[in-house]
Amino acid sequence: QWYVDNDVYNVEKYPQIQEAAQLLQQGEVIGFPTETVYGLGADATNTEAVEKIFIAKGRPSDNPLIVHIASTEQLTHITKNVPSVAKELMEAFWPGPLTLVLEKKGGVSEKVTAGLSTVAVRMPDHPIALALIKEANLPIAAPSANRSGKPSPTLAKHVHDDLKGRIAGLVDGGATGVGVESTVVDCTVEPIVILRPGGVTKEQLEEVAGEVEVDPALLNEVEAPRSPGMKYTHYAPDAPLTIVQGSESFMQQLVDRAKREGKKVGVLTTEEKCASYNADVVLSCGKRDDLSTVAAHLYDALRTFDERNVDVIYSEEFPTEGIGSAVMNRLLKASGHRFISEN
Ligand code: TXA
Ligand code: MG
Repeated sequence: QWYVDNDVYNVEKYPQIQEAAQLLQQGEVIGFPTETVYGLGADATNTEAVEKIFIAKGRPSDNPLIVHIASTEQLTHITKNVPSVAKELMEAFWPGPLTLVLEKKGGVSEKVTAGLSTVAVRMPDHPIALALIKEANLPIAAPSANRSGKPSPTLAKHVHDDLKGRIAGLVDGGATGVGVESTVVDCTVEPIVILRPGGVTKEQLEEVAGEVEVDPALLNEVEAPRSPGMKYTHYAPDAPLTIVQGSESFMQQLVDRAKREGKKVGVLTTEEKCASYNADVVLSCGKRDDLSTVAAHLYDALRTFDERNVDVIYSEEFPTEGIGSAVMNRLLKASGHRFISEN
């Protein structure tokens, strides 16, 4: 495991980046920081290298990967018929937490795109990621660097915990920053459609693109949270997570009941209410009045509950404005859509 501090553009000063870039060129997989979460990178043009990502993560290979680039010049080899709205979005948000789905030209392995005619691309806003991609001089396919189903990694330690022994190297750049993944936007349709809420908000996209739609599948998630049966979890801690809609005293009643059943109980809350709950493990993931802090610490909090071996987790609900929609999307997935409501 290498250590590289976060304040770096300069490959000469940081030979670790050069070493990591060489491993990428040799078809190995590397963990590296981005501004959203840690990525698990491989040469996007090399099918065998890309296959190693799926093996290391334990990820089904029908889920396509994001291609990371460090210059728009790289884009010309990968995509075609880029619409003007996509160019405006790049101008406004790259480098940054925005992934654009565009028509694929070739130039990356079929394994990256899972056989689709489109490709997802982004330019990460992180000095190490940019230096690594430039030094490797390759488009880098990278999903989040967690074992499939686990919360995404926001610290190098999380990558190490999940993938130790399964990857060729890990560049440690400290905490990632945004904390939730990039926003994925389909630019092959008009108006553009948000496929995954993330670091760039719908409101920010609308300022540039005008009309922005949201994938109906996402809206169903929010509107029908109580529907049982939607059983699949993702970004999930080991202990079952339930989102609680209601007052602090309602939350405390749920905690007390679980404790009476002999369970070790975790509560996910914010600084404002941290002192209000009496549970085995009470974790604050940030400030409710600044949801970007909640996004930044959410995954680490979910992983900490596992480390502390709680049996059940109750989480507060968050407003779905701005970055809050990404936070609630991840909490919904982590909970397998398990809600309890006071009313
Ligand atoms: O912030 C991020 O995006 C992080 C960092 C490492 O860059 N990466 C990330 O990758 O979250 P991953 O593989 O965990 O998520 C990629 C998402 C998936 O939801 C995938 O289905 C979608 O992007 N995706 C990839 N290619 C696509 C395509 N051609 N069309 C539609 N969705 C696509
Ligand atoms: Mg992921």
